[in-house]
Amino acid sequence: MIQFERVSKRYPNGREALTNVSFFVDRGELVFITGRSGAGKSTLLKLIALLERPTRGTVTVNGRSTGVLKTRHIPAFRRHIGVVFQDHKLLADRPVFDNVALPLVVAGAPLKEIDKRVRAALDQVGLLGKERLAPMELSVGEQQRVGIARAIVGKPPLIVADEPTGNLDPDLALEVMRLFKRFSEVGVTVLVATHDLHLVREFGSRELTLASGQLTGGAADPLPSLVASR
Ligand SMILES: Nc1ncnc2c1ncn2[C@@H]1O[C@H](COP(=O)(O)OP(=O)(O)OP(=O)(O)O)[C@@H](O)[C@H]1O
Ligand SMILES: [Mg+2]
Repeated sequence: MIQFERVSKRYPNGREALTNVSFFVDRGELVFITGRSGAGKSTLLKLIALLERPTRGTVTVNGRSTGVLKTRHIPAFRRHIGVVFQDHKLLADRPVFDNVALPLVVAGAPLKEIDKRVRAALDQVGLLGKERLAPMELSVGEQQRVGIARAIVGKPPLIVADEPTGNLDPDLALEVMRLFKRFSEVGVTVLVATHDLHLVREFGSRELTLASGQLTGGAADPLPSLVASR
């Protein structure tokens, strides 16, 4: 599902955020990306969602090498990935409903379908009934959950979530992680960058650890050639 082969990422200012990173994530896995602030977690997720391109090495997502993907194919590629941003990136001038509906609107889904799916997604994050509110009228934790609802509304086969529980109290954080776990149990691949080691240990899922841009743990099974082409 996701394969990194000796991937390095250097930003234009010269900063090398990832160095020689290789790992493989199978379909339906729930994987936590951990590491200190600045270790490269967000950069790794951005390379998967094609928000950044690698400087060296190959990133393969869903059997497609992102390095050779033509710019005009990127929107279609992104439609298959639900992204939860670290700063949630909600549209401030649009109500919750519109924010969550966005991926479906972009994909041209019928209105009735949009209505049904948006409500289902809001229900899953415990925000049903808040559709008409503006993001500013919500708490930070609620805004974070709107971002999660938007990521899951299109039922993508892959979800990458950057600190999705950073602003949630422990109970809500656990709820959100359980939600991701349930997705992975039905075949959705989920990558979660998080500082919350308690939560990670609680779930006993696989953990990829970054330190100063290098993978220091969890990369076992490097590049199994049989599954690599999936
Ligand atoms: N757009 C950018 N331009 C230049 N340098 C960047 C950019 N984005 C990140 N970096 C640098 O790359 C390194 C890794 O950043 P990244 O955001 O991936 O870390 P992180 O592990 O997500 O940290 P945090 O836990 O604080 O979110 C940092 O040193 C950061 O300063
Ligand atoms: Mg980050």
